[in-house]
Amino acid sequence: MIVVTGATGGVGAEVVRGLVESGHRVRALSRRPDELTVPAGVETARADLADADSLAAAFAGGTALFLYSTFGDPAIPVAAAKAAGIERIVLLSSAAVRDGADDPIARHHRAVEQAVESSGLAWTHLRPGGFASNARWLAPQVRDGVVRLAYPEVGTAPIDPADIAAVAVRALTEDGHAGRAYPLTGPEWLTQADEIRILAAALGVPLRVERVDAEAEIAVLTGSIPERFARGRLEIQAAMVDRPSYVVDTVERILGRPARTFADWVAAHVTEFK
Ligand SMILES: NC(=O)c1ccc[n+]([C@@H]2O[C@H](COP(=O)([O-])OP(=O)(O)OC[C@H]3O[C@@H](n4cnc5c(N)ncnc54)[C@H](OP(=O)(O)O)[C@@H]3O)[C@@H](O)[C@H]2O)c1
Repeated sequence: MIVVTGATGGVGAEVVRGLVESGHRVRALSRRPDELTVPAGVETARADLADADSLAAAFAGGTALFLYSTFGDPAIPVAAAKAAGIERIVLLSSAAVRDGADDPIARHHRAVEQAVESSGLAWTHLRPGGFASNARWLAPQVRDGVVRLAYPEVGTAPIDPADIAAVAVRALTEDGHAGRAYPLTGPEWLTQADEIRILAAALGVPLRVERVDAEAEIAVLTGSIPERFARGRLEIQAAMVDRPSYVVDTVERILGRPARTFADWVAAHVTEFK
């Protein structure tokens, strides 16, 4: 039985789907299990990673765990996994750890990685850079035709969350991934302005990028995500002006096929921007 936390999440839902497609028994967890939509045959259970009491039953009988780095005490899910007899943990961490960033998001993800490493269980860390799906945060502006960015020239190699999930499925079900920390990116480096051009082409509408200061972008983004995440995103982008992001081929090496492009992700989700 493979236990998947964050099963309502963009990555977690794809992990559940991928595991089922490859014939594995899955238990999908959420704090709101009634809201889970899962493939036939998948067990569901309520679990709050900050609440030890909720985890004993949720993890019972599990052999492997897909774990989100939520903002609770990471010792809680790690201890519960050990107590339940889980043998391996695949952690959704962040590229911020590899980059050695010194911000609250990077420090938090590293603390979770350390808790997992010190468990004595087999572990694999997934360290993705920026998700292609972050473009959703710009959807209200895209609908208005003007996207306000403080750093339009800053870029990443955006990764499709489905590719992160596909790597997670391999790490959860194959040998050879224990003790590895995988940096994960999409296949090509794109500036934010490039991403807007790709969105405009997919939508068949003109989109204008307006350069604003960081506070103005935070104010706009706060309509889509909590202010502390918007602020964290802008801090990361400010640091990237002098330290550009990178492209790695981990997805292709592990999956044996190219990583999906940002344009692929947009094509699959274009209706969300209309
Ligand atoms: N976006 C990026 O560019 C980026 C880059 C690198 C790393 N990351 C990391 O990737 C993760 C986000 O992935 P995503 O987009 O798939 O997330 P998402 O769609 O926002 O979903 C978050 C999931 O976390 C679960 N969750 C939150 N708090 C929980 C708790 N206390 N107990 C149990 N489950 C909890 C939620 O489950 P319920 O609400 O159903 O309980 C939900 O399924 C974050 O850890 C982020 O730091 C993101």
